[in-house]
Formats: sequence, structure tokens, C-alpha cells
Amino acid sequence: MAQHDRRSFLKLTALAGAFSSNSFFQQAHAEEWQAAASAVHHHDAATVAQNEDFWSVIQRGYSVSPLILNLNNGGVSPAPIVVQEAVARYNQMTNEGPSYFMWQILDQGREPLRQKLARLAGASAEEIAINRNATEALNTIIYGLPLKTGDEVVGCKFDYPNMMNAYRQRAERDGIVYKQVTFKFPVEDVDAIVKTYEQAMTPRTKLVHITHVVNWVGQIMPVQQIADMAHAHGAEVIVDGAHSFGLLDFRIPDLHCDYFGTSLHKFLSAPIGSGMMWVKQEKIAKLWPLTCYGDPHSPNIRKFEALGTRSFPIEQGIGEAINFHEAIGSRRKQERIHYLKSYWATRVREIKGVTLHTSLDPRFSCAICGVSVEGYTPTELMNTLFDRYKIHTVGIDYEGVRCIRVTPHVYTTLADLDRFVNAIGELAAGKKA
Ligand SMILES: Cc1ncc(COP(=O)(O)O)c(C=O)c1O
Repeated sequence: MAQHDRRSFLKLTALAGAFSSNSFFQQAHAEEWQAAASAVHHHDAATVAQNEDFWSVIQRGYSVSPLILNLNNGGVSPAPIVVQEAVARYNQMTNEGPSYFMWQILDQGREPLRQKLARLAGASAEEIAINRNATEALNTIIYGLPLKTGDEVVGCKFDYPNMMNAYRQRAERDGIVYKQVTFKFPVEDVDAIVKTYEQAMTPRTKLVHITHVVNWVGQIMPVQQIADMAHAHGAEVIVDGAHSFGLLDFRIPDLHCDYFGTSLHKFLSAPIGSGMMWVKQEKIAKLWPLTCYGDPHSPNIRKFEALGTRSFPIEQGIGEAINFHEAIGSRRKQERIHYLKSYWATRVREIKGVTLHTSLDPRFSCAICGVSVEGYTPTELMNTLFDRYKIHTVGIDYEGVRCIRVTPHVYTTLADLDRFVNAIGELAAGKKA
């Protein structure tokens, strides 16, 4: 193929990959997935959650290592093979002429991608900015709000450290007052949670920060109810959706918040290093961008995307992750991952010496569940599971929570979870090395 023809071909495939149903996903999976979906189309999501034939098709879309059992998908999730292939293709294309292929070809995919993310979020595309992770999204909001000395922010001791530290920095730099409520998780009482936040509110409270799914133990917070309470007190609401977006089936506007930030490389399985922020239309103008923009007071959401040179292949790979996600279906995915969590958790909780640290009620948890075994510190349990069984989890020892955090994903099999349950059983039976 002549150089010119080859370039045109690459240009076309890039556009197709970014914008149309002629996607990497379509090429790799359409036939098999359509057959799997039509076999279960008459069942509701909770029933499909237990159909191993259906999920075996999804599992094959990933390339996870057979050497270890990864049960820390809460930290970061792997991208499906089609997403990896899209990134590799875009990366190869980029390196054939970076400034041309990035800024004239791949960049054209940003607006269609914004539309696609907006559809997934149930929001307007004019409220969606694409960036690199939840930290960038939420720090943009936290540093961008025009808070002044004496203004109060209410957060929680179980928010994510990068956000707590951003408020501490604002307290030091701008004199805001940062208050933190706390909980003894699990909590299955919505009113009690709302009340805890409400008791910290004063007439000076300008902002309430809510972590939708608490990373430490997986508690789902009643965001809408907390947000309604905060608004009734005249405060705005930021939601950290790092662990909820792409996992729970919800529309961002239904949370009733004003600002929302998330990573896309967790449950959405987008390329690692991708994130998104959502800002309610009428709030955009007053929010300062974190990185420079010609008119910082612009009401255009794109003012938050002046990030300089970054990975366009990763950004465009997000579209393939959305294809993959949508082909599963949000409700089915949430139900399946909840089913996987319940599968292992209901088995280990019968074992003597084992304690769960997370609710099993689907209103209060989904993927993440904490578990401890008598006689093991969190670090000992994490290390023993890995050394002896090659099972990767993460130890949590924070604010009185002492457990390992276990997080399956759609590619996790029941056999994987049986292996984990057996390991916990052996350790609880006192086989400490
Ligand atoms: C609740 C929560 N918020 C934010 C983040 C930060 O995500 P990222 O590292 O992608 O910025 C995490 C990461 O685990 C998290 O658990």
C-alpha cells in the first residue's frame, strides 16, 4: 500500500474505531456476544447474573494472568483485550507522525467520545470533561471552587486521601475550615448517615464531599439523600464516583450533586490513566480550571481539558471500553458483580474466626467487601494469601478498619472464588505458617 493510501486507511480506521459501530469491539465480539445476549434476553438482570454460560463469553474478553488470582480490581481494573488493542493501534498510528495523528486525527474523536460518556452518565455532553483520573477530576473541582477564609467543607474520614489532602491544602492556603465526620462501617441506616453529615453543617458550610462507594470497605453512601440535605442547608455537593461509575447503574444527575469526578480505569475497564469530571451546567463558569485556559470564567466545560500533551491513544481507548460495557449492560454488570461478592462472602462468613466488614445488602455494597481472619493482621492475611495461594488482595488498616479488601470483576469466575473461599477456610482453621 502506498504511503498516502496507508495514511488514509489508518485515518479511516481511527475514525471508525472512535465513532462508529465499526469498532474494535464490533470486529472482535459482535457475533459471539449477540448470540450470548439473545440466549438470555428474556431474563432479568438478577437471573442473568447467575448464568455462567453468558459470563464465560465476557470473561474471554479479558487477558488476565493465570499466574495470580487478582481480587483487587478496586485498586485499578484491567482493560479488555479490545481496549488494549485499540490503544496499541492508536499508539502505533500516533508514533508515525505524532503532531499530525494526535492533533488532527485522534483529536477529532474527543467530541464523539464526550457524547458517548454523556450518554453513559445520563448527562449533557456540555457537562462532561475528559481527563486522566479521579484525582485530577476532583482536585480540579476542590481547588477550583471560589471558597474563602472561614468557609466550611464537610467531608468524611473515609474519603480518599488525595481529596482529604486537597482540602487540607486549601485550609492551609486559603483558611477554609475542613471538617470530617466518621462512621463505624457497615451502616445500613440511611437516616443515620444523613444525620451524621447534617450534624456537622453550620451556616458557614459551603460544600459537602461524598464518596459514593467508600474505597476502604465498599460501603455505598446514600448520595442523593445527603445531597438533598446539604442543598437544604445552602451547601453544594461534590461526589467522588471513582468506585461507582461503570459499576452501579445510575445517572449522575439522579445523585442530585453539583460536581462529580471519577476514574474510568476502575469498573468501566477503560485504559489505565483515564478519567472524567461532570459539572452541573450553571456551575461551570464559576469553577476555576486547574490548568490554564484563555478565559477561566468561561461556561464551556472544555476549559478543564487544557492539559497539555497527554496520551490520545488512552483517551480514544475509552470509547472501546464503553462499547464493551454497554454490550454487557449496566444493570447486568452491577447484578453480576454483586452476585460474585455475595457468592464468596456468604460462604466465608460461615467459617469460624472469619468476620465480614461490609454489608451484603445491595443498597449498601456491591463489588467491594472487607474480610478478616482471627489471628491475622491485615498485612499478614494479604501476604499469606499471596505467598501461599497467589491470591492478590489489599490489606486495610485505617481508622479502626482492619481487614483485607476483596474486589472481583466481571472476568472473575466462580472457580476463582471457590479457590479464595478454600484459602480463607484453611487459614481460619489455624494453619498459620
Ligand atoms: C474513592 C476513590 N477516589 C479516588 C481515587 C483516586 O483514583 P485515581 O488514582 O484514579 O486518581 C481512588 C483510588 O483508588 C478511590 O478509591
